[in-house]
Amino acid sequence: MRRLLEVANEKRSPLFPVTDAYRIVNGLADGFPGLTLDRFGDRFQVQFFGPEMLARRREFVDAVAAVFEPACIIVKERLSRSGKSLENAPMEVAFGTRDAAVGTVREGNARFHVDLLDTVNPGLFLDMRHVRLEVEERFRAMTNNARFLNLFSYTCSFSVHARLGGAAVATNADISGKILDKGRANYALNGLDLRPGEFFRGNALEYVRWAIKKGLGFDGIVLDPPSFARFKGFNFNVREHLMPLVSECAQVLNPRGFIMVSSNYSEFALDSFARDVLAAVSSVHKEARTAWKRGQDIDFAGSGATKDSCLVATLVEL
Ligand SMILES: C[S@@+](CC[C@H](N)C(=O)[O-])C[C@H]1O[C@@H](n2cnc3c(N)ncnc32)[C@H](O)[C@@H]1O
Repeated sequence: MRRLLEVANEKRSPLFPVTDAYRIVNGLADGFPGLTLDRFGDRFQVQFFGPEMLARRREFVDAVAAVFEPACIIVKERLSRSGKSLENAPMEVAFGTRDAAVGTVREGNARFHVDLLDTVNPGLFLDMRHVRLEVEERFRAMTNNARFLNLFSYTCSFSVHARLGGAAVATNADISGKILDKGRANYALNGLDLRPGEFFRGNALEYVRWAIKKGLGFDGIVLDPPSFARFKGFNFNVREHLMPLVSECAQVLNPRGFIMVSSNYSEFALDSFARDVLAAVSSVHKEARTAWKRGQDIDFAGSGATKDSCLVATLVEL
């Protein structure tokens, strides 16, 4: 096990200068079927998505402790007895202390708060790293007044990068006030002041309709929604609601702007997803073109092979 862990970590070495938050083991592709191992600085997260390695759980934790000497290892069992992936998974401190589960990580020029015992999601989605870094670079190449819109913003990590890149305003829309507070804390961690209009608590779809009415314009938009979510009697369903939302976003996209759309919904295939996004943007801007379409970064080896690891993402620019 130790040798496999060392080999898996070495495969991710191109990421080391950029970040200390990355996936070390992505299931079978790294020799450990049914489990993932993520590093968030000195704290480590093991997630079981299948039963294959459950019987060797202690052995695996001991191997991680020996190879990486972490401050803590948190184990999350994401698999229910019926075989379904769990959102409210049991979480155990298998090594180290509870206090060590909280800390910060670095990603390019940014830092982010993480808490591995908060929920199954510690505060930063690792699979979006390459897009976050690109968002920062795209804003660095823009004029001073550029504006960014981050829909389904979660802890506002895209916006932190946009502001570090020079965006004048980065607007975050999320239904969770608690999550937006974490976003404010991430702004503070990065020395960013909070600017008027940057935090909208509510339905992302309503925000976009309001922005259209107000005649607002954005130079970059990120649309990275959950597959399903319920809010005040409204059931967001990515299959039904995403492409109409992309067309509405196109109405608030400024000339020479970009929109990045992504999803982890396992039924989307990259080529048709990218085609649909381009068609939705082109319905408003004839000159739209696809800059790229891609899956996950190198730390998600073998991604697309399992239901829990199936990112599709595309960036369209005007
Ligand atoms: C998959 S996360 C988004 C990840 C985020 N884009 C990132 O990269 O960090 C889902 C987020 O969408 C939010 N959410 C769910 N339904 C929503 C809705 N209708 N409008 C706005 N936010 C919503 C949730 O509160 C959660 O923070």
